[in-house]
Amino acid sequence: MKMIAEHRNIGLSGRIEAALDAALLRGAVSPAPPTLVEALRHSVFPGGARVRPQLLLAVASACGDDMPGLSDAAAAAVELLHCASLVHDDMPCFDNASTRRGLPSTHAVYGEQIALLAGDALIVMAFDCLARAGLAAPARVCGLVSVVARGVGMPGGIVAGQAWESERSCSLDTYHAAKTGALFEAATMAGALAAGADPGPWRTVGARLGAAYQVADDLLDAVALPGEADKPTGQDVTHTRPSAVKAFDVDGAVAHLRLLVEEAAAAVPECRGAEQLRDLVRVQATRLVPRRLIHTAA
Ligand code: IPE
Ligand code: IPE
Ligand code: MG
Ligand code: MG
Repeated sequence: MKMIAEHRNIGLSGRIEAALDAALLRGAVSPAPPTLVEALRHSVFPGGARVRPQLLLAVASACGDDMPGLSDAAAAAVELLHCASLVHDDMPCFDNASTRRGLPSTHAVYGEQIALLAGDALIVMAFDCLARAGLAAPARVCGLVSVVARGVGMPGGIVAGQAWESERSCSLDTYHAAKTGALFEAATMAGALAAGADPGPWRTVGARLGAAYQVADDLLDAVALPGEADKPTGQDVTHTRPSAVKAFDVDGAVAHLRLLVEEAAAAVPECRGAEQLRDLVRVQATRLVPRRLIHTAA
């Protein structure tokens, strides 16, 4: 009980940052190669919105969060995987983006070889986080590993999403579901699993929120004014990616976003704090969209 109270006191953000820091410190023990150690820290800190781990902990909390050490580890794992995906996504062989979170991207600072390895190391660290915390919860860890792996792997996780960019054609829904929806889905389901609850009712919440989040990101990419985004924009046109704006135009994409947000909020099952969770879903799904679009496309 004392451990649970301590976890509540530091708040969700504090828990996430501490769990990420602990994971990186484990990878920095001598004789770790120093440039890669630095690149890993650069790839994770300072963070972005940390939306996936926050969502995971919010779901864990709604399900009782009886093993906060395990939900913290799952939250760190999901964020480490997200950070890995950004490092690889920014590399010249993908989106060739020289900035991320308002700073030079990892390959821009450390070179492509180290960036590739940083992404790889973050992926491995993520699963190590789950394994370590899972020692105290053997009945929960296999489900967690499987759900998280599905969010990043084949056939429908992040790597599949990136691979669709090399195909001649792909439906927007399939592309968005894989590159972004899958890890959000993993986050909500892992939050439930870490708390010993049935993950099934949380699948759609994550999938719809993830799809909405990517539509919002497509809108930002298409219409951001200089300085409005903390990363390069106009990427979808530059790289001829499928995008919600290309498919529906700006107003149509906003309408599609609204639909997905309401589907995500409606999918939140009855639980402790359900209304707060619905609010969290609405806020996070629309946070990236420039305010002027939300107000004009009513
Ligand atoms: C960026 O994700 C990639 C997308 C799936 C749109 P975030 O917008 O969550 O990135 P950070 O972590 O806040 O920088
Ligand atoms: C987001 O792809 C999903 C990832 C696998 C990183 P994007 O290429 O649309 O994301 P940003 O705009 O670079 O953050
Ligand atoms: Mg990309
Ligand atoms: Mg990109």
